[in-house]
Formats: sequence, C-alpha cells, structure tokens
Amino acid sequence: MIKVSVENAVKVYGDVRAVDGVSLDARGGQVFALLGPNGAGKTTLIRMLMDITRPDSGTITFDGEMITPDLKHRIGYLPEERGLYKKQKLGAVLAYFGRLHGLDKETSLERAREWLGRVDLGEWEKKKVEELSKGMQQKAQIVLTLLHDPDLVILDEPFSGLDPLNIQVIKEFQGVHLRDAPEGEDRDPLHPPDGPGGGAGRSGVHDQPRQACALRPTG
Ligand SMILES: Nc1ncnc2c1ncn2[C@@H]1O[C@H](COP(=O)(O)OP(=O)(O)OP(=O)(O)O)[C@@H](O)[C@H]1O
Ligand SMILES: [Mg+2]
Repeated sequence: MIKVSVENAVKVYGDVRAVDGVSLDARGGQVFALLGPNGAGKTTLIRMLMDITRPDSGTITFDGEMITPDLKHRIGYLPEERGLYKKQKLGAVLAYFGRLHGLDKETSLERAREWLGRVDLGEWEKKKVEELSKGMQQKAQIVLTLLHDPDLVILDEPFSGLDPLNIQVIKEFQGVHLRDAPEGEDRDPLHPPDGPGGGAGRSGVHDQPRQACALRPTG
C-alpha cells in the first residue's frame, strides 16, 4: 500500500499563493478527501502529487520517495479536465488506455467490458464517445482511471456531472479499493454518506480521523 506524504507544499502563481503550506499524510486503505471552495488550490495540489507541476517549496513523497514513472502506473488519476477521443468507439478508447498502463490487448479489452458492465454502459461499447451524454462520459473516465487496478486512486471532482444514483455507484467503487485494508482500518468508505467530501470514510491531517484536509481559498 502506498503512503502519500505532503510536507509544507507551496505553489505560487504570480500574486496568488495557490497552495500555501499544505501538509498531509494519506495511506492505502483510506479514502482521503481534499475539501475547499473554488480556487482553494485542490487541483494545484493534485497536479503536484502527479508531478505535472512542481511545488515551489515543500516535499511530496510516495513511500518516502519522489514519484517515478513506474509508480505513476500504480496510480489511477482522474484529472479535472476530462478528454476522451470523441470520434473513437468507447471500448476501443478504454482498451487503448489500458495498454498504455501496461495491460496486454486481450486483458485490456476484457477489463474494459467488465467495467462498462459495472457502470451500466455495456451497450455503449461500440458507440463513439461523442454519442455519450456528459454523465456517461464521466463514468467512462472513471472506468479508465480504475482499469489497470491501481494501488492508489487520485480523483479530481469525481462526482461532477453524475446523477445521485451514479454518485452512489462510484462511492461503492471506493469500497472496492478498500478491500485490502488491514485490520483496524476503517472499512466503511461511505461514511459520512452525504457530508462534505461524501464518500470520504476516513481522512485527515495530523491523524484526525474523519476530518478532511481543508484548503483555504486564495486571493
Ligand atoms: N496554471 C495556473 N496559472 C495561474 N494561476 C493558476 C494556475 N493554476 C491555478 N491557478 C490559480 O491557483 C488558485 C487555485 O486554483 P485550483 O485550480 O488549484 O483551485 P481548486 O481548488 O481546484 O478550484 P475548483 O474547485 O474551482 O476546481 C486559483 O486562484 C487559480 O486561479
Ligand atoms: Mg479544481
């Protein structure tokens, strides 16, 4: 299980301190929510976790090490900006991304079909992505994030565009990812079900269980 540590991370854009000294620890078996209003720096922090942008100061480590390309393959990342190849067929797009993550063609297709079934998109496999509604595309993006069975999942606004039923389905997937939680860890990913960061069963900074990491708005 991967342990993520952020220590005093700072990111400045011009006059804006987008992330202003955030520290947190999250480890396998937990659902950790980053909470904050628009502009608080959630996406910036996530981009720093994924090494898309570097912090101006502070450190971000995974099991005590800087992120590596191999480690990136063990992470499922749902970026804030979504983008599937719209002219391609859904099943083919998913299979392609599975292969980018190191799955062979057959396994990739098999997993894509399995996941499409789970999110009720089985009949859409042969349709072009552009024929799917916004929420359906969002579900497809989440499938793409989980397809290679990552050890760590980082989701930026996972519920955006989803109806309440589908939000519930996605929360249940978080339960799938807690399946290997050690004894004593919180195994209920749905608590609190409707609170901020809904689906965050256990999260926190400085060992405060059930508290999410709150980011202040900037500016
Ligand atoms: N590439 C960038 N260049 C300049 N400013 C940026 C850049 N990325 C983010 N910012 C600024 O950093 C601050 C934090 O933005 P960020 O996107 O991280 O917020 P957020 O918490 O994800 O917001 P939202 O809930 O709207 O997605 C904002 O003031 C934003 O304008
Ligand atoms: Mg954001």
